[in-house]
Amino acid sequence: MAARSPAVVADSVRTSLERSSWIRKMFEEGARLKAEHGAEHVYDFSLGNPILEPPAAVREALRALVADPPPGAHRYIPNAGLPNVRAHVAAELVAATGLPYTAEHVVMTCGAAGAVNIALKALLNPGDEVVTFAPYFVEYDFYAANHGGKLVRAETDADFQIDLAALERVVTERTRALFINSPNNPTGVIYPEASLRALADFLRGCERRFGRPIFLLADEPYRKLVFDGNTVPWLPPLYEHTLLITSYSKDLGLAGERIGYVAVHPQAAEATLLLDALVLANRVLGFVNAPALIQRVLPLVGDATVDVAYYQRMRDRLLAPLREMGYEVVTPGGAFYLFPKSPLPDDVAFVRAAQGERLLLVPGSGFGRAGYFRISLAVSEDVIDRSLPVFERVLQQALS
Ligand SMILES: Cc1ncc(COP(=O)(O)O)c(C=O)c1O
Repeated sequence: MAARSPAVVADSVRTSLERSSWIRKMFEEGARLKAEHGAEHVYDFSLGNPILEPPAAVREALRALVADPPPGAHRYIPNAGLPNVRAHVAAELVAATGLPYTAEHVVMTCGAAGAVNIALKALLNPGDEVVTFAPYFVEYDFYAANHGGKLVRAETDADFQIDLAALERVVTERTRALFINSPNNPTGVIYPEASLRALADFLRGCERRFGRPIFLLADEPYRKLVFDGNTVPWLPPLYEHTLLITSYSKDLGLAGERIGYVAVHPQAAEATLLLDALVLANRVLGFVNAPALIQRVLPLVGDATVDVAYYQRMRDRLLAPLREMGYEVVTPGGAFYLFPKSPLPDDVAFVRAAQGERLLLVPGSGFGRAGYFRISLAVSEDVIDRSLPVFERVLQQALS
């Protein structure tokens, strides 16, 4: 009898690996193409890695902190973060929302991903459900599963806007939280205030029906990456059970430094207990505290950002030509993605065909919306210019 291989890796992790293996294969194939043809002959629109360097103020603050470090600069710090940094974040939130946030309402985290994970750890009992509007950032599936929860999708409309009827069909008494990601990855849409108000009313109705609140997890790492003078409405003034989640990954170009926060609405039910739970979760999930050095940078850089206009220029450089060719694309209001309709109904087949032309895209299926594909605008102008004939060619091939 053949020896059975020992089950070293947990079944759940094995399943996750198998489910995401096609994405891994796609990235491996991209790396192979670059090695074979040279990176300049591959048009890579697959990565959501912000390419803009942090503003000068960040480098200056880092230089000053390294040259003249405070005593114990590299020791453990409080699990919730440095008090002056939390106070700095709270002051910004007071100015933006008019609500009485204090340092006590803010927990510094290892990016937005760390913030989402501590929020779910704090909120979920086994079998609880978390709803997301689809298409969505696919890590949400894994994050919900990390904490015994289940991610449930509510489809959005043809313009990727909130469809309350679709939401109503999936919300149950098991629903503990709802992700809302605006500007959105992968579509770039911003939800307007009127639909957020309607959403808040709907959630208050659910609270009356089920006898407990559904928490809004407002995942906003792209808040400052907006185009055409758009603004992103603030959710906390509309709904008290909001956890604001964000990071400095995209707007300060610090994705690798792992810094963000979660802020609990000052009037949320059991806010103090929830904050204690978040701090405990930060500790016991092994984050311990968000990186200390980069926390200290934050109050020193004010409201500096990367050059947001760059992403708008990349959007404009690509969007109009794609439309002229015949691609159907909803105009993104922010973030740094386009999410066009796939010319083939099978988006994975289209992305494979594009890969054959050394054009790297991500299928919409990877974001819970088949029939579309995602283009990242975190690329150089030159890649866009050289890719245009290739976009045209793969479209013609798909239509022929
Ligand atoms: C919607 C969304 N949420 C969260 C994250 C995680 O961001 P962070 O690097 O801050 O953990 C990302 C990263 O791409 C994202 O797109």
